[in-house]
Amino acid sequence: MNKVLPSLLAGDFMRLGDDIEKMEAAGADIFHLDIMDGQFVPNISYGLPVVKAIAEKSTIPLDVHLMTNQPEQFIPEFAEMGVAMVSFHIEATAHPHRIMQLIHNHGMKAGIALNPHTPVNMVKHLLPEIDFVLIMTVNPGFGGQEFISSCVDKIEELAVMKEDSGYDFAIEVDGGINNETAEICTKAGAGLLVSGSHLFKSGDWKRAVDTLKG
Ligand code: DX5
Ligand code: ZN
Repeated sequence: MNKVLPSLLAGDFMRLGDDIEKMEAAGADIFHLDIMDGQFVPNISYGLPVVKAIAEKSTIPLDVHLMTNQPEQFIPEFAEMGVAMVSFHIEATAHPHRIMQLIHNHGMKAGIALNPHTPVNMVKHLLPEIDFVLIMTVNPGFGGQEFISSCVDKIEELAVMKEDSGYDFAIEVDGGINNETAEICTKAGAGLLVSGSHLFKSGDWKRAVDTLKG
């Protein structure tokens, strides 16, 4: 069964606590938290005090997606808050292995994220130790964008590398995920589905979560 990760970026920021309770009741597996710095991506989302408040409220694990330059900056703080998973972008650092180790040393799962144009080969040498690979299926920075179909080839390529090597990483997809694109991605090998606008805009959250779980 797929895991469903609602992206809280699509939630109602004035009533985030209510949205968290409702999404948990709807069967969400993990919350996806998008951190944007206005540098790596052309948008700013929210920062540490908001993550802390979400961590205190949530009863399910948190997945922090760092769309930031210097992704090594706040790893100890996220660990302290009880975050379970942290992903950072391969395009944002010259030292991805060191950052992966830092995340692991703080007791969290480490993920490496790839922009739509970045080939999977870029992260090949992290695969033996990384916990998950985040294939961006939109250009990072905004919710509500259209799924980029050419990214599906990358999921397939990664799934083959996983099969051939016997490594144990999960494949996460993020951006433009709805019932149709989720099916395409899971067929290609993805198991962690991030969804923002599709989930939050659906009238029946439980049904929407169940459908994505497959
Ligand atoms: C985009 C973010 C996504 C975003 C997904 O930069 O990484 O997590 O919130 O939103 P939707 O599902 O609306 O594309
Ligand atoms: Zn994200």
